[in-house]
Order: sequence, then structure tokens, then C-alpha cells
Amino acid sequence: MAGYVVLGAQWGDEGKGKAIDLLADRADAVVRSQGGNNAGHTVVVNGEKFILHLLPSGVLSEKADCFIGNGVVVDPKVLKKEIETLKVKGGRTNHIYISDRAHVILPYHIEIDGILEEEKGENKIGTTKRGIGPCYMDKYGRIGIRMGDLKDRAHFESKIKLALNEKALRFPNHKFSLELVMSEYDAYISEIKPRIIDTIPVIHKLMREDKLILLEGAQATMLDIDFGTYPYVTSSNPTVGSAMCGSGVNPFFIKKVIGVSKAYVTRVGEGSFPTELFNETGSHIQNIGREFGSTTGRPRRCGWLDMVALKYAVSLNGITDIIITKLDVLSGISEIKVCVAYELNGVQIDYVPALMEEFTSAKAIYQTFTGWNEDISQIREFDKLPVNAQNYMLAVEKMAGSKISMISVGPDRHQNIMREALI
Ligand code: IMP
Repeated sequence: MAGYVVLGAQWGDEGKGKAIDLLADRADAVVRSQGGNNAGHTVVVNGEKFILHLLPSGVLSEKADCFIGNGVVVDPKVLKKEIETLKVKGGRTNHIYISDRAHVILPYHIEIDGILEEEKGENKIGTTKRGIGPCYMDKYGRIGIRMGDLKDRAHFESKIKLALNEKALRFPNHKFSLELVMSEYDAYISEIKPRIIDTIPVIHKLMREDKLILLEGAQATMLDIDFGTYPYVTSSNPTVGSAMCGSGVNPFFIKKVIGVSKAYVTRVGEGSFPTELFNETGSHIQNIGREFGSTTGRPRRCGWLDMVALKYAVSLNGITDIIITKLDVLSGISEIKVCVAYELNGVQIDYVPALMEEFTSAKAIYQTFTGWNEDISQIREFDKLPVNAQNYMLAVEKMAGSKISMISVGPDRHQNIMREALI
């Protein structure tokens, strides 16, 4: 038994839920370690689909305990709602725990997210407006409020008063309401309080007992605050380091890092991506792939697979296994392109430039593959795929420098081609 990390290798929405589905039933614990309810994953309980934003999708596992780790930013109102939804749908909820070190998203963080986006005007990030950035700002400014602070009402209220004084200085034109914070608190606290624990000793005990811990990433490598396309990124580190920093699991416990990538690229929100398609093929991929954000409903921008970014993700995260999702969406496209390098100021480069100005002017250099017409959604063996689809996957694998262990060919949990067992 060991730790398995599942993370996004592109700009998010890669379909991490597929991998988690396969692993969660074997896991003893499922842990989320960064981000907040800016994420969105569709889950199915008793045949009924719904979207979770904060709870990991592994929460549906029959046996695993579910932890929201110290690195997550938690909106307790959303947490309560998701727990209630699970209850209504007949799901298990008595196994959900939240780290007392996790930071709390409060109503003023959500308001500030909107204010900051407005201040930026044309340069807005296109955030999910869930208060993620402002909550992490308080965390790193060392003025944040943590889940442990919620346990005592009077203590919490005194901390909120201090926080609101600070916000009033920073945003003099806005009035933030103490009453709103406290009335929301009174509505969620009885559901949340018994679940707030020090998760670290519990997770360390699981490690000592050699249990299987599944670390479920949110967002993705290219949205990483350090390694992503800054400033058009989220405010946490969706790369592998957070799986440790945000949970208390140590790196020697990790057996596999599973990186999930679509067979093409999508992105929500602002910020350039060099392989973006502005033509009919882009619209075709958007329609066939149903590329609309599960958190905000925004249409996702679509483009060709970017190997510079995928190779970067493999190196940064130590990805041992790649899962390619949505290969079926490319059926019927006669020529499939893959970006193999960028051209920057007349020079060919094979890395992701740090400066946004450089990244924006980087032009994709493509290799073209012949496509296939067959519907591949019912295929379960690699050798049965059309030869052109096989060639495409083998070339991607070679360029990525890490094996493709699974290929997903449809939304259903069984629509997968397994090339190598994940556990
Ligand atoms: P924030 O995380 O709400 O601050 O948004 C920052 C950027 O990350 C925006 O471009 C969002 O669209 C993007 N983003 C945040 N979470 C996700 C996600 O789960 N999937 C895809 N994009 C995301």
C-alpha cells in the first residue's frame, strides 16, 4: 500500500474523476490537498448525476475515509450544502473530516474576488469568483482564519471583527457585514463542527499502517501559481508538492503520480494558450466534447494537444503514468495536430517561458497526424483502435517521456482502454 497522486497535467478539467473512480474503491483514505470550490467534478450516486465542487470525488468510495487537507480553502456554506446533497441522494457522509489547519473562505473573500477582478479591468484573470484568491492572500499574509477557529463562536466572532477592520482599511469604499458572516456561521456550524479535526496524526497513522492513500488534485499544472501561466493562474499549487504540503503525507510514501491529460487542450478563463483553435475544428471539439465549465458553465476554449506543456507537467510532477481522456472526441477529424515546440522571436524553444508576454507571443510548431473516422467509444483494447489512433497515442507517449497507462474513450466509468494497471 502507498500513496497515489492524481493531478491535472494541462489547464484543468482533464477528467481526473475517471482515474479517481478506478482507485477510490481500493483506497483507505481520499485526501484533497489544495484549491477550494473552484473545482467541479460530476459524480453519480445511485444512478443520479450531480456536481461536487469542494468534496473530492473519492468521497463516494464505499470504504475510504475522506479528508479535506490543510492546504485546501474551505467555504463552510458550500461544504454543508454538499454534505446535505450527499445525504439526500443516499450517500455516506459520516466519513468526512476537515483539517483544523485549512483556511476558511468567508463572504468577504467572495466579494473581494469580484472587486479585484473589476479593478483589473481588461487584465482580469477570469476567476471563478469563489473567493479562492483572497482567501489564500489572507493565508499567506498570515491574517487568515482557519477551520479550527470555527469551533468556538466567541473566538471566531472576535477574529472576524479584526479581519473586517483590516478589510475596511484595504477597501474603504466597500462595507463588509459582520452580521452576514455570523448568520451564515449559525446555519452551518452544527453540521461542520464535529468534522473539524487535526488530520495530520490520523494521516500519519494511516501511513504507518501502510494503507492506501489517494491524493486527489484539483485544477492543474498550467494553472499553478508558481509554474503556470502567471498571472492567469489559480492561487494554489496544483502540482505534486501540494499533495504533500497540503496533506501531511511525505514524499517517500508516494508510489505513483498519475497525470491526466485530454487528447487535446481546453482552458477556461483568461490567459493565452498557444494551440488555441479559433476555427470550425475548435467549435467541433467544443460541441462533441461538451466543453462547458462544470463550475461556472462558461464555454471552454479548445485547442490542439501541447506537448511542450505536457512534457513540462511530466517533469515537474514526476508523472509515472499518464491517462489520456476524450480520445473519442477526435474521431472524424481528418488531420490532428500536436504542438511539438514553440517559436519565440524566430527561435525554436521547447520550454514554457516564464514571462506572460513571451508565452503570449510564442507560436506553436506542429506535427500533423492523420486522423480516423471510426467511432472508438466501444473499444476496450489498444490493439483494436484504428491504426491512426494508435499511432497518435504512441507518438504522444514517446514525446511525453512517460507511459500512457489508460485511455478514456467516453464518459462512462467503463469506457476505458487499460494498458497498464494503475495499482
Ligand atoms: P480561481 O481559481 O477562481 O482564482 O481562478 C483562476 C483561474 O483558474 C481562472 O482562469 C479559472 O477559470 C481557473 N480555474 C480555477 N479552477 C479551475 C478548475 O477546476 N478547472 C479549470 N480551470 C479552473
